[in-house]
Formats: sequence, structure tokens, C-alpha cells
Amino acid sequence: MTARIIDGRERAHRLRAKIKDTVSSFKQDGLGTPGLAVVLVGSDPASEVYVRSKLRATEEAGIQSFSHHFEDTVTQADLLAFVERLNTDPAVHGILVQLPLPAHIDKLAVINAIAPDKDVDGFHLENVGRLATGQPSFIPCTPLGCLMLLREELGDLRGRVATIVGCSNIVGHPMAELLLKNECTVLIAHEYTRDTGALVRQADIVVAAAGVPGLIKADWLKPGACVIDVGINRVAAPEKGLADDGAPKTKLVGDVDFAAALAVADAITPVPGGVGPMTIACLLLNTVDAFCTQAGRAKPACLAA
Ligand SMILES: NC(=O)c1ccc[n+]([C@@H]2O[C@H](COP(=O)([O-])OP(=O)(O)OC[C@H]3O[C@@H](n4cnc5c(N)ncnc54)[C@H](O)[C@@H]3O)[C@@H](O)[C@H]2O)c1
Repeated sequence: MTARIIDGRERAHRLRAKIKDTVSSFKQDGLGTPGLAVVLVGSDPASEVYVRSKLRATEEAGIQSFSHHFEDTVTQADLLAFVERLNTDPAVHGILVQLPLPAHIDKLAVINAIAPDKDVDGFHLENVGRLATGQPSFIPCTPLGCLMLLREELGDLRGRVATIVGCSNIVGHPMAELLLKNECTVLIAHEYTRDTGALVRQADIVVAAAGVPGLIKADWLKPGACVIDVGINRVAAPEKGLADDGAPKTKLVGDVDFAAALAVADAITPVPGGVGPMTIACLLLNTVDAFCTQAGRAKPACLAA
């Protein structure tokens, strides 16, 4: 058996095309243009790459983007005042503050300063509480993207056993809430779980979000499982030769031993090209959602998650 490879790039491409058409129809109907503000603090190279690709995708979808870059010496008070300005700016429907923030800034204070109806990352306490209690909310982009891939792959998720490895506020924990809401039986493993393999072996659905390369072994997987690999880990790739500095070149891998898992799983996402593209598409989706909600309009049916 060789697992089906779930093509996140293709799925994200289709979703982004629909979003682009929807945004263009808003403009044609004179309803205005959704706007997304992205705030970056400091010069973390990975954050700069993420922000660039988010802004590029935003513009490609016809969504107006507002990019704001602060030095890592910005004070918390100045950052909070800036978020407040974005909260009241009618051209801005979604606000994203790229994480991580420098150590002197209280991340939760900044996230919770974002107006909940502009919180397109879904990290504000109000949205977290809404998701946990089954009320409409913004859903964090990565778990939302994983859910869309799972629904397309498996249809109804009711009654399936799902094991999530990792329980961060950004990925694992909201993923567990979402799968519970979809009537799965949810098992959660974290770094202190004594036998993560025993939990994974029971799962029809595995979501790997630990940030540990190759953590999920093929013999942990139940034959026929659907595997969503969220992990993005940069590892040495001596097979690619040496970089200019003489160190081995590197490559990105997930948390699952992908090559071996292919022989056991029914379907699996690759890294790269699986969950990552869906995360960006879901940010655009949440921005359109914010635009519609703020205008008192329902989100177009073609964009239903
Ligand atoms: N594809 C995407 O769009 C996307 C988005 C966000 C994060 N990520 C990636 O997903 C991974 C997780 O990100 P995060 O922000 O949730 O990380 P995090 O470090 O905040 O959380 C990691 C979680 O994994 C658990 N964990 C760590 N080691 C473990 C082990 N050996 N066994 C079981 N559980 C273990 C920890 O307890 C924690 O709950 C990272 O590789 C990150 O780069 C990808």
C-alpha cells in the first residue's frame, strides 16, 4: 500500500481562487474591499519570510494589505496604542501580529488588545473561549486548514478517533477543540505523555504538531490512518551537498517519518506542500469572514469551511 499524498498546495490554490473571485465580486457590487493589517516587530528571519508570504497572498487575492514593521526596541505601550489605532481603522478588517514578539513585550496583552472581531488569527481570549464552547469564532488558521484537508479527505469525521501530538495554543489545542466539535474522540499527547505511540496507534486521524523531526514512527500508525503533519523542521541534508559556509545544506521535514509512513497510512500530507499553504489560505478566508461580519453580511456559501 502506498498512501495518497494530500496536496495542500493544490487545495490552497483552489481556495485562494475562490477567495479572489469573492473579493472581486465585493468590489464590483460596490461593497468595498477587505483589508488586512500585518504587524511585525523586530527582524527574526523566519518571521520576515512568513510575513512576506502572507502579504503576497493577501495582495494576490485582491485584499488590501497594510504592513507595519517596528524595531525590536518598540515599547509595549506604543505597540498597544498602535493596535488600538488599527482597531478603529475602518479600512482594516483583520489584524495579525506576527509571533514571536521580543521578550520585553507581553504577548497576551498584545493579542488581547486586538478587537475580537478583527482577530483573524483567532488567538484572542474571546475567540478561544468561543471555540471551546462551540460558539461561532475565528478559528486559528493552521488548525482550520488541517480541518479542511481532513473533511475533504474523509467527509464526515463523526466517531473517528483522532490523536493530536502537541497541544500549543496555536495548533494542537485548538485542533483538539475543532475535532471535538466535529464529534471525534480526541486523544492529546504532549512532551510529558508517557507513551505517545500508544495513543497514535489508536488513531484514525493523526495530527502531528510537536516540532520534533521524525517523531511519529511508521509503526505507531494504525494501517489506513489519515495523517496530517503540521511540523516544520529544518534539518541538515548532507545529500544536497555543502552551502557556501561549508556547512551541509538543509531541508524542511515534518514530525512524521514520511517515507516509512507511506507504506502504512491511507493518506498523508507532505512537508513542505501540505498544511503550510492551507494556513495562508485560511488567513485570507478569516479576513473575508471578518469583512462580512463587520458589514453584517453572511460569508458567501462558496467559502464555507
Ligand atoms: N504548517 C504550518 O502552517 C505551521 C503553523 C504553525 C506551526 N507549525 C509547526 O508545527 C510545529 C508545532 O508548532 P507549535 O507552535 O505548536 O509548537 P510549540 O513548541 O508551541 O508546541 C509544541 C507542542 O508539542 C509537544 N511536544 C514537544 N515534544 C514532544 C514529544 N517528544 N512528544 C509529544 N509531544 C511533544 C509540546 O508539549 C507542545 O505541546 C512546529 O514544527 C511549527 O514550526 C506549522
